[in-house]
Amino acid sequence: MDPRAAPQRGGCVKATATAHANIALIKYWGKANEDLIIPITSSLSLTLDDLFTTTTVDFSSLEPTAADQATLDGATVSGRPLERICGLLDLVRERAGIDQPAKVTSENMVPTAAGLASSASGFAALTGAAAVAAGLELSDRELSRLARRGSGSASRSIFGGLAIWHAGDSDETSFADPVVDHGFAQEISLVVLVLNSGPKAVSSRDGMRRTVDTSPLYESWVAEHAGHLREALAAVADRDLPRLGEAAEANALGMHAAMRAANPPINYMNDASCAALQAVKDARAAGFPAWATMDAGPNVKVLTSTKRAAELEAWLQSRLKDSVPGMDTVVAHAGPGLTVTR
Ligand code: ADP
Ligand code: DP6
Repeated sequence: MDPRAAPQRGGCVKATATAHANIALIKYWGKANEDLIIPITSSLSLTLDDLFTTTTVDFSSLEPTAADQATLDGATVSGRPLERICGLLDLVRERAGIDQPAKVTSENMVPTAAGLASSASGFAALTGAAAVAAGLELSDRELSRLARRGSGSASRSIFGGLAIWHAGDSDETSFADPVVDHGFAQEISLVVLVLNSGPKAVSSRDGMRRTVDTSPLYESWVAEHAGHLREALAAVADRDLPRLGEAAEANALGMHAAMRAANPPINYMNDASCAALQAVKDARAAGFPAWATMDAGPNVKVLTSTKRAAELEAWLQSRLKDSVPGMDTVVAHAGPGLTVTR
């Protein structure tokens, strides 16, 4: 039985949730409403198997007058990251009609703030655990809307496989849905080239705000975006990996161009990213299915077929061993949606 279907009503208890990171193939970058986190564009993502967050929320162990507490990978969370967690907890408390403070314990099996989607898995897991611990009975769509308020990309991590976040224009209409793909998600994988797993200098939140406010290329990226999404969805329906890869690569490179044209410029790419992007082109020329995507960080994710992912990983490792010494690689396949246990 899905534990979210029958939460304990009324009791302020403890729950643990696991949510997997997702990588957008067609990106979200820019908000129409900062408060509600309504995006300017819809987005399409693949939830991944090996990158995830497990979070426990306990509404019963602190004194009623205490403030919320959180640890991430054993370290106390404070400042802005804690405020973001408290903001989501407040939404859950308000909805459940409770006011107990929470103790949050989270473990990221994904590098934090490195452009590998820790905020997506982190806030999806927090939402699932907090909702069940607070005794709420929420549908996946409601969980997606709530997770969105913590971090936009988290709305998609409620679902496994391919997910689409409909931009919408209000809290009610901005949520993710699973994409009906007849198993296509299992046929595609990402070779993740971890070039730097340290935290980025500009957070996604600040980076997208600056891009929207100052980049002369932002509007043209948004104008192209609708076509990229249409192409990508048609490619999924037709199980056409090259068509999906071309749309994904064009969308990501356009987003990075818009970022770089911001004032002051945002450049998440480093020399290793450029070498990796060239290697992906070379892999394609050598006959591999291989298309690059990048998020708010230097790491490069390579979309490929599940069948050839291991072979492509080895090829890229060998290609980049001199120019990017110390590069780590992970082959990520389609992963599951949110799970919650008491
Ligand atoms: P990333 O590329 O890792 O998603 P972002 O800049 O988008 O980077 O988000 C990183 C922020 O997400 C962190 O600074 C923190 O506020 C939040 N975050 C990451 N992991 C967790 C977690 N497990 N629980 C709650 N918040 C998290
Ligand atoms: C480049 O979801 O982390 O990964 O909503 O401000 O928390 P906030 O931003 P976040 O941004 C993700 C941006 C991206 C593209 C994507 O995941 O669609």
